[in-house]
Amino acid sequence: MKTLWRNARLATLAGDTPWGMIERGALLVDDASLAWVGAEADLPRGLTIDAEHDLRGAVVTPGLVDCHTHLVYGGERAREFELRLAGASYEDVARAGGGIRSTVAATRAASDDALFASARARAEALMAEGVTTLEIKSGYGLSAEHEARCLRVARRLGRELALTVRTTCLSAHALPPEFAGRADDYIAAVCAWLPVLHEEGLVDAVDAFCERIAFTTGQTRRVFAAARALGLPVKLHAEQLSDMGGAALAAEFGALSSDHLEHLGEGGVQAMAKAGSVAVLLPGAFYFLREKQLPPVAALRAAGVPIAIATDHNPGSSPTLSPLLMLSMACTLFRLTPEEALRGMTVHAARALGLADRGTLAAGQRADFVAWNVQHPNELAYWFGHRPCARVVAGGEERAR
Ligand code: NIG
Ligand code: FE
Repeated sequence: MKTLWRNARLATLAGDTPWGMIERGALLVDDASLAWVGAEADLPRGLTIDAEHDLRGAVVTPGLVDCHTHLVYGGERAREFELRLAGASYEDVARAGGGIRSTVAATRAASDDALFASARARAEALMAEGVTTLEIKSGYGLSAEHEARCLRVARRLGRELALTVRTTCLSAHALPPEFAGRADDYIAAVCAWLPVLHEEGLVDAVDAFCERIAFTTGQTRRVFAAARALGLPVKLHAEQLSDMGGAALAAEFGALSSDHLEHLGEGGVQAMAKAGSVAVLLPGAFYFLREKQLPPVAALRAAGVPIAIATDHNPGSSPTLSPLLMLSMACTLFRLTPEEALRGMTVHAARALGLADRGTLAAGQRADFVAWNVQHPNELAYWFGHRPCARVVAGGEERAR
């Protein structure tokens, strides 16, 4: 099946020209892939096509890639938000037994169907803003049984919705109550169940939370060694609240990405550059936790570390379902340019997931793209609280509107 999409302003994000812009462009889709991308005037002669769509001058970008979410969980944490507004810090709440552990209790108590229904509604909200690839982490089950349940829900979302889901095992997210005071034993248990989850096909990558209120670099290293033994790529929640040297450790293991990074130092930046890790910045968590320390954007740029932007959707530190708002905040809070922000949620986000087949509009890439009701792609980071998403094509098929 060959479909021609013509009369588009293509922000291909391929190559080094601004936005990879092609005015009056066309996309030739062959089943799930892009067979040809270029200016309409250069379309090869004598093409046989099965269908044709006129995009009437709409801006078209690659489908958005949300490369860091914790989408599957029970309950919410609005009460904790009130406590933080009254003066408690995120770390205070966590140490008092709230925080991640309260979501673990709600997640364990929820049925598979309830977890699926709530996660599906959230995924649909992200899709309505142009997301075609979504990463989902476990980390609110924290036992072999409940981590598996959450990852199965994530896999089911990928089967039932018109988007690609990549799963990440984040069992080393927090210490569950039954292991209180025995963090090393918990890490040993995680390393033992990881192969079982992997055997069931539930794990595309492995993550950990390396932080004062979570796990040490030594414990993180053990989780990464277990991932490496299975041939699984790693990523890390690093340097969010303090500089633990997590990003450098992750770089040692060739991490796909290190994420958050507000407290990243120059050594960490250099280690990431050498390893080719992506810096995933999460303006939603920065905003919602009212952080003051900005991630070292200038140093990351200078070192040539690719910067990705994601929602970090989760009930504790980033309860947002708006990837477009994250583009806006990446600019206003972190001072990225609108083009850097969009590249951060497409080509660099794909790289943070180890996916080379998406993130730009180019022949051979997966046919994931979005047509927007805007005049220029810089408007995607400009409007906020607005959804200018007109049409979405995922894997070559247009989603029902
Ligand atoms: O990415 N930093 C650790 N994990 C999440 C927050 C989890 C939670 O508070 O429930 C994050 O910010
Ligand atoms: Fe996160």
